[in-house]
Amino acid sequence: MIEVPEVSVAVSPSYKVYVEAGILSKLAPSISEKRIALITDDVVGPLYASLLENTLQEAGKDVAVYTVPNGEDSKSMACFESLLRKLMVDGFDRKSAVVALGGGVIGDLAGYVAASFMRGIAVYQCPTSLLAMVDASVGGKTGINIPEGKNLVGAFWQPKAVFIDVDVFASLPERQFKQGAAELFKHGLLADQSILESINSKEFAPQGDRAFLSDIVARSIKVKADVVAQDEREAGIRAHLNLGHTLAHGIEAWSDHRVPHGEAVTYGLLFVAYLAKNRGYADVIESVKAFLDYVQPEPLGLTDLAPLLAFMKRDKKHEGGTQRWVLLKEVGQACIVEDVSLGELELAWQQLQNDIS
Ligand SMILES: NC(=O)c1ccc[n+]([C@@H]2O[C@H](COP(=O)([O-])OP(=O)(O)OC[C@H]3O[C@@H](n4cnc5c(N)ncnc54)[C@H](O)[C@@H]3O)[C@@H](O)[C@H]2O)c1
Ligand SMILES: [Zn+2]
Repeated sequence: MIEVPEVSVAVSPSYKVYVEAGILSKLAPSISEKRIALITDDVVGPLYASLLENTLQEAGKDVAVYTVPNGEDSKSMACFESLLRKLMVDGFDRKSAVVALGGGVIGDLAGYVAASFMRGIAVYQCPTSLLAMVDASVGGKTGINIPEGKNLVGAFWQPKAVFIDVDVFASLPERQFKQGAAELFKHGLLADQSILESINSKEFAPQGDRAFLSDIVARSIKVKADVVAQDEREAGIRAHLNLGHTLAHGIEAWSDHRVPHGEAVTYGLLFVAYLAKNRGYADVIESVKAFLDYVQPEPLGLTDLAPLLAFMKRDKKHEGGTQRWVLLKEVGQACIVEDVSLGELELAWQQLQNDIS
Protein backbone atom coordinates (compact mmCIF):
# COMPACT_ATOMS: atom_id res chain seq x y z
CA MET A 1 0.00 0.00 0.00
CA ILE A 2 1.38 3.42 -0.98
CA GLU A 3 1.66 5.76 2.04
CA VAL A 4 0.86 9.10 0.43
CA PRO A 5 -0.08 8.34 -3.15
CA GLU A 6 1.26 10.78 -5.65
CA VAL A 7 0.99 10.47 -9.41
CA SER A 8 2.97 12.41 -12.00
CA VAL A 9 1.31 13.45 -15.23
CA ALA A 10 4.13 13.64 -17.75
CA VAL A 11 2.79 16.29 -20.10
CA SER A 12 4.78 19.46 -20.67
CA PRO A 13 5.03 21.06 -18.16
CA SER A 14 4.38 18.02 -16.00
CA TYR A 15 2.30 18.20 -12.84
CA LYS A 16 1.52 16.12 -9.81
CA VAL A 17 -1.68 14.67 -8.46
CA TYR A 18 -1.57 14.40 -4.66
CA VAL A 19 -3.99 11.95 -3.06
CA GLU A 20 -4.18 12.23 0.71
CA ALA A 21 -6.86 12.40 3.40
CA GLY A 22 -6.91 15.93 4.83
CA ILE A 23 -4.88 17.54 2.04
CA LEU A 24 -7.39 20.36 1.58
CA SER A 25 -6.15 21.91 4.80
CA LYS A 26 -2.46 21.49 3.94
CA LEU A 27 -2.07 22.44 0.32
CA ALA A 28 -1.19 26.16 0.60
CA PRO A 29 2.62 25.70 0.37
CA SER A 30 2.14 24.03 -3.02
CA ILE A 31 0.43 27.10 -4.48
CA SER A 32 2.82 29.85 -5.52
CA GLU A 33 0.36 32.54 -6.64
CA LYS A 34 -0.78 35.15 -4.11
CA ARG A 35 -4.21 36.03 -5.47
CA ILE A 36 -6.64 33.15 -5.66
CA ALA A 37 -10.11 32.87 -7.20
CA LEU A 38 -11.71 29.89 -5.50
CA ILE A 39 -14.55 28.62 -7.71
CA THR A 40 -17.01 26.14 -6.25
CA ASP A 41 -20.71 25.19 -6.28
CA ASP A 42 -23.49 25.70 -3.76
CA VAL A 43 -23.33 22.12 -2.44
CA VAL A 44 -19.58 21.65 -2.13
CA GLY A 45 -18.82 25.28 -1.19
CA PRO A 46 -20.70 25.33 2.13
CA LEU A 47 -19.05 22.02 3.08
CA TYR A 48 -15.41 22.62 2.17
CA ALA A 49 -14.67 26.11 0.81
CA SER A 50 -13.98 27.68 4.20
CA LEU A 51 -11.46 24.93 5.03
CA LEU A 52 -9.55 25.75 1.90
CA GLU A 53 -10.03 29.49 2.20
CA ASN A 54 -8.68 29.51 5.77
CA THR A 55 -5.61 27.46 4.85
CA LEU A 56 -4.83 29.76 1.95
CA GLN A 57 -5.40 32.89 4.01
CA GLU A 58 -3.22 31.62 6.84
CA ALA A 59 -0.46 31.24 4.24
CA GLY A 60 -0.85 34.94 3.41
CA LYS A 61 -2.90 34.54 0.24
CA ASP A 62 -5.65 36.83 -0.90
CA VAL A 63 -8.69 34.64 -1.63
CA ALA A 64 -12.09 35.43 -3.16
CA VAL A 65 -14.74 32.72 -3.33
CA TYR A 66 -17.15 32.43 -6.28
CA THR A 67 -20.08 30.05 -5.91
CA VAL A 68 -22.24 28.86 -8.79
CA PRO A 69 -25.36 26.67 -8.62
CA ASN A 70 -24.51 22.95 -8.55
CA GLY A 71 -25.30 20.86 -11.60
CA GLU A 72 -24.61 20.61 -15.29
CA ASP A 73 -26.53 23.83 -16.11
CA SER A 74 -23.63 25.86 -14.70
CA LYS A 75 -21.39 24.68 -17.52
CA SER A 76 -22.94 27.45 -19.60
CA MET A 77 -21.77 30.42 -21.61
CA ALA A 78 -23.69 32.69 -19.20
CA CYS A 79 -21.93 31.32 -16.13
CA PHE A 80 -18.55 31.35 -17.88
CA GLU A 81 -18.99 34.99 -18.91
CA SER A 82 -20.22 36.04 -15.50
CA LEU A 83 -17.17 34.50 -13.78
CA LEU A 84 -14.73 36.11 -16.23
CA ARG A 85 -16.33 39.51 -15.68
CA LYS A 86 -16.30 39.13 -11.89
CA LEU A 87 -12.61 38.23 -11.95
CA MET A 88 -11.94 41.31 -14.08
CA VAL A 89 -13.97 43.64 -11.84
CA ASP A 90 -12.31 42.18 -8.73
CA GLY A 91 -8.88 43.04 -10.10
CA PHE A 92 -7.42 39.62 -10.85
CA ASP A 93 -4.46 39.65 -13.22
CA ARG A 94 -2.31 37.19 -15.16
CA LYS A 95 -0.31 36.27 -12.07
CA SER A 96 -3.44 35.14 -10.20
CA ALA A 97 -4.64 31.56 -9.98
CA VAL A 98 -7.96 29.75 -10.07
CA VAL A 99 -8.64 26.95 -7.60
CA ALA A 100 -11.47 24.66 -8.71
CA LEU A 101 -13.25 22.97 -5.78
CA GLY A 102 -16.06 20.61 -6.76
CA GLY A 103 -17.15 17.86 -9.11
CA GLY A 104 -16.48 17.64 -12.82
CA VAL A 105 -18.79 20.55 -13.57
CA ILE A 106 -16.67 22.92 -11.51
CA GLY A 107 -13.43 21.43 -12.81
CA ASP A 108 -14.49 21.93 -16.42
CA LEU A 109 -16.02 25.38 -15.90
CA ALA A 110 -13.31 26.83 -13.64
CA GLY A 111 -10.62 25.22 -15.80
CA TYR A 112 -12.02 26.94 -18.87
CA VAL A 113 -12.29 30.25 -17.02
CA ALA A 114 -8.59 29.88 -16.13
CA ALA A 115 -7.72 28.92 -19.72
CA SER A 116 -9.46 32.03 -21.04
CA PHE A 117 -8.89 34.78 -18.48
CA MET A 118 -6.16 37.07 -19.88
CA ARG A 119 -5.32 34.27 -22.33
CA GLY A 120 -4.70 31.81 -19.55
CA ILE A 121 -3.81 31.80 -15.86
CA ALA A 122 -2.82 29.01 -13.49
CA VAL A 123 -5.44 26.53 -12.33
CA TYR A 124 -5.31 24.03 -9.47
CA GLN A 125 -7.89 21.28 -9.37
CA CYS A 126 -9.44 20.07 -6.09
CA PRO A 127 -11.94 17.46 -7.31
CA THR A 128 -14.57 16.34 -4.80
CA SER A 129 -16.57 13.68 -6.66
CA LEU A 130 -15.04 10.29 -7.47
CA LEU A 131 -15.70 10.98 -11.15
CA ALA A 132 -13.86 14.28 -11.05
CA MET A 133 -10.98 12.67 -9.12
CA VAL A 134 -10.30 9.76 -11.44
CA ASP A 135 -11.38 11.33 -14.71
CA ALA A 136 -12.23 15.03 -15.12
CA SER A 137 -9.44 16.62 -13.06
CA VAL A 138 -6.60 14.90 -14.91
CA GLY A 139 -5.85 15.37 -18.58
CA GLY A 140 -6.47 19.06 -19.09
CA LYS A 141 -9.80 19.00 -20.91
CA THR A 142 -11.87 21.99 -19.86
CA GLY A 143 -15.05 23.42 -21.28
CA ILE A 144 -18.71 24.24 -21.23
CA ASN A 145 -21.91 23.20 -22.98
CA ILE A 146 -23.90 25.08 -25.61
CA PRO A 147 -27.50 24.33 -26.59
CA GLU A 148 -26.14 22.43 -29.62
CA GLY A 149 -24.36 19.92 -27.39
CA LYS A 150 -22.27 19.06 -24.35
CA ASN A 151 -18.59 20.02 -24.10
CA LEU A 152 -18.60 21.61 -27.55
CA VAL A 153 -16.69 24.70 -26.42
CA GLY A 154 -13.48 24.46 -24.45
CA ALA A 155 -9.73 24.21 -24.35
CA PHE A 156 -6.94 21.91 -23.30
CA TRP A 157 -5.58 23.58 -20.18
CA GLN A 158 -3.50 21.50 -17.84
CA PRO A 159 -3.64 22.23 -14.09
CA LYS A 160 -0.47 23.14 -12.17
CA ALA A 161 -1.36 20.49 -9.61
CA VAL A 162 -4.31 18.35 -8.51
CA PHE A 163 -5.16 17.87 -4.82
CA ILE A 164 -7.41 14.98 -3.89
CA ASP A 165 -8.76 14.76 -0.36
CA VAL A 166 -10.56 11.46 0.12
CA ASP A 167 -12.14 12.83 3.32
CA VAL A 168 -14.68 14.59 1.08
CA PHE A 169 -16.25 11.21 0.31
CA ALA A 170 -17.95 11.59 3.71
CA SER A 171 -20.59 13.78 2.07
CA LEU A 172 -20.69 12.26 -1.42
CA PRO A 173 -23.96 10.42 -2.10
CA GLU A 174 -23.52 6.71 -2.86
CA ARG A 175 -25.08 7.08 -6.30
CA GLN A 176 -22.59 9.83 -7.22
CA PHE A 177 -19.76 7.63 -5.97
CA LYS A 178 -20.93 4.87 -8.33
CA GLN A 179 -20.81 7.20 -11.35
CA GLY A 180 -17.09 7.63 -10.72
CA ALA A 181 -16.67 3.94 -9.96
CA ALA A 182 -17.53 3.19 -13.60
CA GLU A 183 -14.53 5.20 -14.85
CA LEU A 184 -12.32 3.68 -12.17
CA PHE A 185 -13.42 0.17 -13.18
CA LYS A 186 -12.81 1.11 -16.84
CA HIS A 187 -9.23 2.12 -15.92
CA GLY A 188 -8.82 -1.30 -14.29
CA LEU A 189 -9.89 -3.03 -17.51
CA LEU A 190 -7.56 -0.84 -19.56
CA ALA A 191 -4.43 -1.28 -17.52
CA ASP A 192 -4.57 -2.47 -13.92
CA GLN A 193 -6.03 -5.83 -12.88
CA SER A 194 -5.56 -4.93 -9.19
CA ILE A 195 -8.26 -2.27 -9.52
CA LEU A 196 -10.76 -4.90 -10.69
CA GLU A 197 -10.05 -6.94 -7.56
CA SER A 198 -10.07 -4.00 -5.13
CA ILE A 199 -13.48 -2.89 -6.30
CA ASN A 200 -15.03 -5.99 -4.69
CA SER A 201 -13.78 -4.94 -1.25
CA LYS A 202 -16.30 -3.65 1.29
CA GLU A 203 -13.93 -0.70 1.77
CA PHE A 204 -14.80 0.47 -1.75
CA ALA A 205 -17.54 2.84 -0.54
CA PRO A 206 -17.79 6.52 0.39
CA GLN A 207 -17.32 5.59 4.07
CA GLY A 208 -14.53 3.10 3.35
CA ASP A 209 -11.02 3.07 4.76
CA ARG A 210 -9.17 6.27 3.78
CA ALA A 211 -5.83 4.61 2.95
CA PHE A 212 -7.60 2.00 0.82
CA LEU A 213 -9.55 4.69 -1.05
CA SER A 214 -6.47 6.87 -1.58
CA ASP A 215 -4.62 3.90 -3.01
CA ILE A 216 -7.32 2.81 -5.45
CA VAL A 217 -8.01 6.40 -6.57
CA ALA A 218 -4.27 6.93 -7.19
CA ARG A 219 -4.01 3.67 -9.17
CA SER A 220 -6.92 4.69 -11.35
CA ILE A 221 -5.48 8.16 -11.97
CA LYS A 222 -2.17 6.60 -12.90
CA VAL A 223 -3.87 4.69 -15.72
CA LYS A 224 -5.39 7.88 -17.12
CA ALA A 225 -2.20 9.90 -16.54
CA ASP A 226 -0.12 7.36 -18.47
CA VAL A 227 -2.49 7.47 -21.42
CA VAL A 228 -2.70 11.28 -21.38
CA ALA A 229 1.10 11.55 -21.24
CA GLN A 230 1.33 9.51 -24.45
CA ASP A 231 -1.38 11.48 -26.24
CA GLU A 232 -2.12 14.86 -24.69
CA ARG A 233 -4.40 16.10 -27.49
CA GLU A 234 -6.38 12.93 -28.15
CA ALA A 235 -4.84 12.16 -31.53
CA GLY A 236 -4.50 8.43 -30.95
CA ILE A 237 -4.21 6.20 -27.88
CA ARG A 238 -6.25 8.54 -25.67
CA ALA A 239 -9.27 7.19 -27.53
CA HIS A 240 -8.83 3.98 -25.48
CA LEU A 241 -10.31 5.92 -22.57
CA ASN A 242 -13.57 5.76 -24.51
CA LEU A 243 -13.90 2.06 -23.66
CA GLY A 244 -17.61 1.48 -23.04
CA HIS A 245 -18.46 5.03 -24.08
CA THR A 246 -19.76 4.44 -27.62
CA LEU A 247 -22.92 2.69 -26.44
CA ALA A 248 -23.00 4.89 -23.31
CA HIS A 249 -23.24 8.07 -25.38
CA GLY A 250 -26.09 6.50 -27.34
CA ILE A 251 -27.91 5.60 -24.09
CA GLU A 252 -27.41 9.07 -22.62
CA ALA A 253 -28.66 10.82 -25.76
CA TRP A 254 -31.59 8.43 -26.27
CA SER A 255 -32.67 8.70 -22.60
CA ASP A 256 -32.15 12.48 -22.59
CA HIS A 257 -29.68 11.94 -19.70
CA ARG A 258 -32.22 10.08 -17.51
CA VAL A 259 -29.54 7.38 -17.32
CA PRO A 260 -26.52 9.08 -15.67
CA HIS A 261 -23.11 8.88 -17.32
CA GLY A 262 -21.47 6.26 -15.10
CA GLU A 263 -24.51 3.98 -15.31
CA ALA A 264 -24.61 4.32 -19.11
CA VAL A 265 -20.88 3.48 -19.17
CA THR A 266 -21.56 0.39 -17.06
CA TYR A 267 -24.00 -0.88 -19.71
CA GLY A 268 -21.48 0.15 -22.37
CA LEU A 269 -18.70 -1.86 -20.71
CA LEU A 270 -20.84 -5.01 -20.63
CA PHE A 271 -21.74 -4.47 -24.27
CA VAL A 272 -18.11 -4.20 -25.43
CA ALA A 273 -17.21 -7.12 -23.17
CA TYR A 274 -19.62 -9.25 -25.23
CA LEU A 275 -18.36 -7.81 -28.53
CA ALA A 276 -14.81 -8.73 -27.50
CA LYS A 277 -15.62 -12.20 -26.17
CA ASN A 278 -17.64 -13.09 -29.28
CA ARG A 279 -14.57 -12.28 -31.39
CA GLY A 280 -12.33 -14.46 -29.25
CA TYR A 281 -10.69 -11.48 -27.57
CA ALA A 282 -10.75 -10.87 -23.79
CA ASP A 283 -13.39 -12.57 -21.68
CA VAL A 284 -14.22 -10.17 -18.84
CA ILE A 285 -17.94 -10.91 -18.76
CA GLU A 286 -18.09 -12.20 -15.17
CA SER A 287 -16.10 -9.27 -13.83
CA VAL A 288 -18.26 -6.69 -15.64
CA LYS A 289 -21.48 -8.47 -14.61
CA ALA A 290 -20.37 -8.31 -10.98
CA PHE A 291 -19.69 -4.61 -11.44
CA LEU A 292 -23.13 -4.09 -12.99
CA ASP A 293 -24.64 -5.80 -9.93
CA TYR A 294 -22.80 -3.36 -7.69
CA VAL A 295 -23.82 -0.26 -9.69
CA GLN A 296 -27.50 -1.23 -10.02
CA PRO A 297 -27.96 1.13 -12.95
CA GLU A 298 -31.21 2.83 -13.86
CA PRO A 299 -33.27 0.31 -15.88
CA LEU A 300 -33.06 1.00 -19.60
CA GLY A 301 -36.64 0.14 -20.52
CA LEU A 302 -35.50 -0.55 -24.07
CA THR A 303 -35.36 -3.86 -25.89
CA ASP A 304 -34.52 -2.63 -29.37
CA LEU A 305 -30.98 -1.58 -30.33
CA ALA A 306 -32.04 0.51 -33.33
CA PRO A 307 -32.84 3.77 -31.44
CA LEU A 308 -29.40 3.68 -29.80
CA LEU A 309 -27.67 3.07 -33.12
CA ALA A 310 -29.38 6.15 -34.53
CA PHE A 311 -28.05 8.31 -31.67
CA MET A 312 -24.58 6.76 -31.84
CA LYS A 313 -24.31 7.80 -35.48
CA ARG A 314 -24.73 11.42 -34.46
CA ASP A 315 -21.99 11.25 -31.80
CA LYS A 316 -19.16 13.73 -32.36
CA LYS A 317 -16.62 10.96 -31.82
CA HIS A 318 -18.09 9.06 -34.73
CA GLU A 319 -15.54 9.81 -37.43
CA GLY A 320 -15.77 9.62 -41.22
CA GLY A 321 -18.91 7.52 -41.27
CA THR A 322 -17.22 4.59 -39.51
CA GLN A 323 -18.29 3.46 -36.07
CA ARG A 324 -15.12 2.97 -34.04
CA TRP A 325 -15.22 0.57 -31.11
CA VAL A 326 -12.64 0.26 -28.36
CA LEU A 327 -12.34 -3.44 -27.50
CA LEU A 328 -10.11 -5.36 -25.13
CA LYS A 329 -7.83 -7.98 -26.61
CA GLU A 330 -6.80 -8.77 -23.04
CA VAL A 331 -7.15 -6.94 -19.74
CA GLY A 332 -4.56 -4.19 -20.16
CA GLN A 333 -4.57 -4.33 -23.96
CA ALA A 334 -7.17 -2.24 -25.76
CA CYS A 335 -7.50 -1.82 -29.51
CA ILE A 336 -9.65 0.16 -31.90
CA VAL A 337 -11.85 -1.80 -34.24
CA GLU A 338 -13.70 -0.33 -37.20
CA ASP A 339 -15.23 -3.41 -38.78
CA VAL A 340 -17.82 -4.41 -36.19
CA SER A 341 -20.84 -5.65 -38.16
CA LEU A 342 -24.49 -5.01 -37.41
CA GLY A 343 -24.85 -8.72 -36.67
CA GLU A 344 -22.14 -8.54 -33.99
CA LEU A 345 -23.81 -5.50 -32.42
CA GLU A 346 -27.18 -7.23 -32.37
CA LEU A 347 -25.76 -10.39 -30.81
CA ALA A 348 -23.97 -8.45 -28.04
CA TRP A 349 -27.16 -6.45 -27.42
CA GLN A 350 -29.18 -9.65 -27.07
CA GLN A 351 -26.64 -11.03 -24.59
CA LEU A 352 -26.74 -7.79 -22.59
CA GLN A 353 -30.56 -7.90 -22.60
CA ASN A 354 -30.48 -11.46 -21.22
CA ASP A 355 -28.31 -10.28 -18.34
CA ILE A 356 -30.36 -7.25 -17.38
CA SER A 357 -33.88 -8.57 -17.82
N1 LIG B 1 -12.69 17.22 -18.40
C1 LIG B 1 -12.80 15.92 -18.49
O1 LIG B 1 -11.90 15.20 -18.94
C2 LIG B 1 -14.08 15.27 -18.03
C3 LIG B 1 -14.14 13.89 -17.88
C4 LIG B 1 -15.31 13.33 -17.41
C5 LIG B 1 -16.39 14.12 -17.09
N2 LIG B 1 -16.30 15.48 -17.24
C6 LIG B 1 -17.43 16.36 -16.90
O2 LIG B 1 -17.69 16.22 -15.51
C7 LIG B 1 -19.05 16.52 -15.26
C8 LIG B 1 -19.64 15.48 -14.34
O3 LIG B 1 -18.90 15.48 -13.14
P1 LIG B 1 -19.58 15.09 -11.75
O4 LIG B 1 -20.27 13.80 -11.89
O5 LIG B 1 -18.56 15.28 -10.71
O6 LIG B 1 -20.75 16.16 -11.67
P2 LIG B 1 -21.00 17.41 -10.72
O7 LIG B 1 -19.85 18.31 -10.69
O8 LIG B 1 -22.31 17.98 -11.17
O9 LIG B 1 -21.14 16.74 -9.29
C9 LIG B 1 -22.28 15.93 -9.04
C10 LIG B 1 -23.03 16.42 -7.80
O10 LIG B 1 -22.29 16.03 -6.66
C11 LIG B 1 -22.08 17.14 -5.82
N3 LIG B 1 -20.81 16.87 -5.12
C12 LIG B 1 -19.57 16.85 -5.65
N4 LIG B 1 -18.68 16.50 -4.71
C13 LIG B 1 -19.37 16.32 -3.56
C14 LIG B 1 -19.01 15.94 -2.24
N5 LIG B 1 -17.76 15.61 -1.91
N6 LIG B 1 -19.99 15.87 -1.31
C15 LIG B 1 -21.29 16.14 -1.65
N7 LIG B 1 -21.69 16.48 -2.87
C16 LIG B 1 -20.73 16.57 -3.82
C17 LIG B 1 -22.08 18.34 -6.73
O11 LIG B 1 -22.43 19.51 -6.04
C18 LIG B 1 -23.17 17.94 -7.73
O12 LIG B 1 -24.44 18.25 -7.22
C19 LIG B 1 -19.75 16.57 -16.61
O13 LIG B 1 -20.00 17.91 -16.95
C20 LIG B 1 -18.73 15.98 -17.56
O14 LIG B 1 -18.82 16.51 -18.87
C21 LIG B 1 -15.16 16.05 -17.70
ZN1 LIG C 1 -16.86 8.81 -19.02
